[in-house]
Amino acid sequence: MEIKVIERVYNRSMKFWIITLFPGMFEGVLGQSMMWKAQEKGLASFEVVDLREFGLGPRRQVDDSPYGGGDGMVLMAEPLFGAIEFAKERAEEEIKVVLMTPKGKRWVQSSAREWTKGGCRNYVLVCGHYEGFDERVMELVDLEVSVGDYVLTGGELPAMTVIDSVVRLIPGVLGGENSAVDESFSDGVTLEYPQYTRPEEFRGMKVPEVLLSGHHAEIAKWRRENSGRVE
Ligand code: ADE
Repeated sequence: MEIKVIERVYNRSMKFWIITLFPGMFEGVLGQSMMWKAQEKGLASFEVVDLREFGLGPRRQVDDSPYGGGDGMVLMAEPLFGAIEFAKERAEEEIKVVLMTPKGKRWVQSSAREWTKGGCRNYVLVCGHYEGFDERVMELVDLEVSVGDYVLTGGELPAMTVIDSVVRLIPGVLGGENSAVDESFSDGVTLEYPQYTRPEEFRGMKVPEVLLSGHHAEIAKWRRENSGRVE
């Protein structure tokens, strides 16, 4: 199997700022498993910023009804500017502002790979809710990202998806320094093939013979032939 030579240097650590009205949603995701390990190893760090803190007046208002009428509420420009500028002021180097929205650019495996390869190491992910954002926030936004052609109730799950897919590619997060290389096969796509572990037979279902053969070339061929591709 041909392994592609990685020409570009991968980021050694990354920082994510998450702007949300629901900071509690991130506790479980960032506090466990790989995301937790990445922080423990100093490879990733996260700062969850509560948009409500930047709300207006005694009730810390963050949304209002849309000009021109219509259902639902729109996130106001002022709290959004406040929270984004708060993150930008604290970032020690270049930082990109990313809006999570169903009309954004589709997030795919190669997007995650781009983020981990050099360049920018700091990202602010802005999670919307309700009917959308006051368009004037676009003044501060570098990129709009969608995780798929469906509308979720907020940008939190998309932000978690983006973060997870990026952080697991930082060398060292998944154990081996070169684990990201393992995924980058000849044409730069990730190949996902069927996997088996013990026992060799379960309820009459057997592990394919070739995987027990110890014949590396044959195994590699079988895996290529049985791969689904992730862009
Ligand atoms: N917010 C709501 N739906 C979304 C989606 N599909 N992608 C990104 N952000 C969203």
